[in-house]
Amino acid sequence: MSPWYSLTNAAEVPSPALLIHPDRVAENLRRMIILAGGPERLRPHVKTHKLPGIIALKLAAGITKFKCATIAEAEMTAAAGGPDVMLAYQPVGPNAQRFVTLIRTFPRTRFCTVIDNSATLAELAGAAQSAGVTAEVLLDLNVGMDRTGLPPGPAAVALYRQLAATAGLRPAGLHAYDGHLHQPLEADRAAALDLAFAPVWKLRDELRAAGLPVPRIIASGTPTFALLAREPEVEVGAGTSVLWDANQPRNCAEFNFLEAAVLLVRVISRPTPTRITLDLGHKAVASEMPHPRVRLFGLEDARFVMHSEEHLVVETPRAAEYPVGTVVYGIPSHVCPTVALQSEVVVVRDSRAVETWPVVARARRLTI
Ligand SMILES: Cc1ncc(COP(=O)(O)O)c(C=O)c1O
Repeated sequence: MSPWYSLTNAAEVPSPALLIHPDRVAENLRRMIILAGGPERLRPHVKTHKLPGIIALKLAAGITKFKCATIAEAEMTAAAGGPDVMLAYQPVGPNAQRFVTLIRTFPRTRFCTVIDNSATLAELAGAAQSAGVTAEVLLDLNVGMDRTGLPPGPAAVALYRQLAATAGLRPAGLHAYDGHLHQPLEADRAAALDLAFAPVWKLRDELRAAGLPVPRIIASGTPTFALLAREPEVEVGAGTSVLWDANQPRNCAEFNFLEAAVLLVRVISRPTPTRITLDLGHKAVASEMPHPRVRLFGLEDARFVMHSEEHLVVETPRAAEYPVGTVVYGIPSHVCPTVALQSEVVVVRDSRAVETWPVVARARRLTI
């Protein structure tokens, strides 16, 4: 029997291509919902896929809340019918106005965003006031990743107070992304999580005691979402789990999500008896990390020796089994930026490539 990733009509698919398996995406969503405790507990991140077709699968699974990193992702999600869209990226400079334009353009979608400083707060408030809208804003907290946000503490309380007192803005809760927590063992991750989030729960209680509304807490990526979902009021923001990739098992060994995005590539040359060259350059697969940047089915023992814009050269004693034109399938190590390198993905149903979907939100700007 052919392996699950092998296409019956591979000969019709130009390479390199990224294949998306919607049935496996739907199964991953089902598993995410079980782990989170219900679809209403999830706010999965759109950046992983950037595809309206996967927004539709999420909506069909009962998921109504979405997390985005760019205005284009937020616009795509609202246009695809997402009722509740978070821009989890502080809108700075012209993006403050663009965020307000999103609110005005999609009145049926509820938007929120994050801030971590009073200058951005003031800029966003100005844009919202001029447009006559109210922007829902969460305070972005730094829980140890040291990428964005304020540490939970007195400065966070002061900024939240200012947020609550500012016309044009409504305090919408706390956002804490813990992307630094990816200990392979769940017990180690859980212990680190308890330490990182204790100050968040304290801040929430302090804000509420001061009479300030904290309607929700949004936290987590894939490695911590099942753990954080145990906190009843936390919405969890796993993104990668929907497509899964070759890196994730190293970050969270306990999960059993299905690989739902597969690279289809071809041997384009055999420059030496022990070497094959594939059409998978670093313009087709995410390459911000050391090799292996892809797990090649059947070539797990190959040594990656050269990677240029359109070529991946590997050494294997079995090169003779791979004549030019051979189709090879692989799982990208990091799926999210791999998707963003494609202008379209190829959709697979019943082992056949049946259509292509444009990767709509790989653009930085759609209409707004
Ligand atoms: C703010 C934020 N939330 C959620 C996620 C999703 O995390 P993961 O890719 O582990 O699913 C990310 C990933 O980059 C993120 O930056």
